[in-house]
Amino acid sequence: MSENVLVTGGAGYIGSHTCKELAKNGLVPVSLDNLVYGHRGFAKWGPLVEGDIEDGVLLDRLFAEHRFAAVIHFAAFAYVGESVQDPGKYYRNNVAGTISLLEAMRRAACCDIIFSSTCATYGTPETDLIGEDTPQRPINPYGRGKLMVETILQDYQAAYGIRHGILRYFNAAGADPDGDVGERHDPETHLVPLAIKAALGQAGPLTVFGSDYPTPDGTAIRDYVHVTDLADAHVRALQFLRREKASVVCNLGTGCGSSVQEVVDTIAEVCGREVPLRRGGRRAGDPPRLVAAIGRASELLGWTARRSAIETIVADAWRWHEREGQR
Ligand SMILES: NC(=O)c1ccc[n+]([C@@H]2O[C@H](COP(=O)([O-])OP(=O)(O)OC[C@H]3O[C@@H](n4cnc5c(N)ncnc54)[C@H](O)[C@@H]3O)[C@@H](O)[C@H]2O)c1
Repeated sequence: MSENVLVTGGAGYIGSHTCKELAKNGLVPVSLDNLVYGHRGFAKWGPLVEGDIEDGVLLDRLFAEHRFAAVIHFAAFAYVGESVQDPGKYYRNNVAGTISLLEAMRRAACCDIIFSSTCATYGTPETDLIGEDTPQRPINPYGRGKLMVETILQDYQAAYGIRHGILRYFNAAGADPDGDVGERHDPETHLVPLAIKAALGQAGPLTVFGSDYPTPDGTAIRDYVHVTDLADAHVRALQFLRREKASVVCNLGTGCGSSVQEVVDTIAEVCGREVPLRRGGRRAGDPPRLVAAIGRASELLGWTARRSAIETIVADAWRWHEREGQR
């Protein structure tokens, strides 16, 4: 009989792609999403339960009904700027919500969880490549909340034996190559969809924040990783926890960065349309360069970012947004 996996935030961007990958691997994803940012139509590979991770009664019912083999925990708010304006909202949903989920796991004796962490836990590191041991000094409530959850997970392992896979994503981008799901954040703050929508005329010109960074073309460099590669890493992390009976913490990136200008140029090359631009100043707290050291994910999970060349990310995202525009 197939095993069930609880996927919180399964109707969101990365969660939905991961559900597809779980199903491909013979697992049944049961999505729990309050649909604040998720989309009903994104939950295509298993049941969708509309509800909140803070609802302990609902969680107990779901654990009893589905006897989950493991949990993959995406549900969170993820707007850095909003987290500065309204930190309470973020600590409540992202930290207290996770404790509610962990307590339900304890009650149900479910002991494997994969958690969506982020490069935002590193803050503004001075190294060229960010390894898992680079000091974590987050500079906003979103990043601090994610780091708090990492600490809580370590304590829950020590006290209650709940194993964790902490996956620190760099910049998720791209869309399912088959076009089944893609990126639909509202509001959208990520570079690739904003640039593509600007090129397609679905949104206004792209604002480039900062053109005087100490980088070759003056724009900020980020490490873009294809969402299907992230999905693959989640399944591998789950397999690691169960095989090794141990926890794991990994960066998920490519080890190569692309600047904002390079992303814009790639869109023009791959899609044949210029991205209308507006030049803006630097944003507070935006480091010049954030690129992952990725040795650990490769060594422990056998993972490589196979679809994450920036041209492939852009081509897949372009197809998705073109179709979205025709919906
Ligand atoms: N997108 C990125 O580049 C990126 C980078 C690093 C980390 N992350 C993390 O990855 C995770 C997924 O990100 P995403 O881009 O797919 O975001 P998303 O907003 O598309 O998905 C999150 C989902 O969680 C749901 N949700 C939020 N709070 C909930 C709650 N209390 N109960 C039930 N459902 C709830 C939302 O409705 C949404 O469907 C988040 O934890 C985010 O912090 C994302």
